[in-house]
Amino acid sequence: MIDMSMSYLGLQLAGPIVVSSTPLSDAVDNVRHMEDAGASAIVLSSLFEEQLALEANQLDDDLSRGTESFAEALDYLPDLNNYRMTHEVYLEHLRKAREAVKIPVLASLNGVTPGGWVRFAKEMEQAGASAIELNTYALATDKSLTSEHMENQLVALVSSVCSSVKIPVAVKLSQNFSSLPHLAARLEEVGAKGLVLFNRFYQPDFDIETLEVRPTLHFSTPAELLTRLHWTAILYGNVKADIAITGGVHSAEDVLKSVMAGGSVAMMVSALHIHGIDHIGRVLADVRYWLEKHEYASLGQARGCLSRRSAPDIAPFDRGNYIRTLNSYSLRQTVTAF
Ligand SMILES: Cc1cc2nc3c(=O)[nH]c(=O)nc-3n(C[C@H](O)[C@H](O)[C@H](O)COP(=O)(O)O)c2cc1C
Repeated sequence: MIDMSMSYLGLQLAGPIVVSSTPLSDAVDNVRHMEDAGASAIVLSSLFEEQLALEANQLDDDLSRGTESFAEALDYLPDLNNYRMTHEVYLEHLRKAREAVKIPVLASLNGVTPGGWVRFAKEMEQAGASAIELNTYALATDKSLTSEHMENQLVALVSSVCSSVKIPVAVKLSQNFSSLPHLAARLEEVGAKGLVLFNRFYQPDFDIETLEVRPTLHFSTPAELLTRLHWTAILYGNVKADIAITGGVHSAEDVLKSVMAGGSVAMMVSALHIHGIDHIGRVLADVRYWLEKHEYASLGQARGCLSRRSAPDIAPFDRGNYIRTLNSYSLRQTVTAF
């Protein structure tokens, strides 16, 4: 039997598939179902900074600080109230989920500004979270905000969460940074044990008839995986932090690519919403079959074999690939002559 075990954030996992943050795991029955299907860990849906501020009746104070994220939050906070659990319900759910399964259950905190809300990380730890995933979805819409300011804010937030708990913290990042390797090193310095690549941005769509701008949520496609593979392959071996890939993992091939790029785990959400939770078991069986067919002794043996550090040719990861790709296309066009 192939050894499929992987280590992520110091947690020994039986396999490579982790369920990323999704409301599917808001039901304990689903959490059990995920474990039965073969998930090796589960990240619960997020508790939001804005929601915690609202609960603490601090919204006015926070708004008077003038932070942009809170001003924007005004529009969606009513929805947030209907959709999300209060922090007490969240912590109770976390406790129940931990009792229901043997696999690690990670709590998810979602916010951008370092502040009092960070203390909920401690509460998550006390409620039994195996680790914390910190989702840092921030958007700079004000021209006075420099990239340095955005990065400093992120590093300060990660630092304050890491120093408030003993359990490992993974940071779910967006891909919009000028120098991701440098930022990754800074996050590691302040205590991050894992990087989760990447947040999906849910851009609003425009209705040209009603002139409305509407929130949209589309499930991912495997095409989104490429940018995650690229950055994982670049970071692997450059940072000590474990890397989790989220975004576009749908099949066994996607899981294998994620591990070969250097990922410790491949996370799934859209595929489970589309095919059901049992999809995890089918994908794991396909991964195992592929490894056996290619005579691997373990999945770990494949880890990082296509990273920038290990690949026989590093050109595909760098600017040379960009030029080569564009050139190959124009050559084809000339031959086709339409
Ligand atoms: C309905 C839905 C709810 C989500 N809620 C959260 C959330 O609360 N916190 C979070 O960090 N990510 C959340 N995500 C993002 C997923 O965890 C995941 O990163 C993203 O969907 C990309 O993975 P996928 O391609 O497997 O779907 C959500 C995604 C979906 C589809």
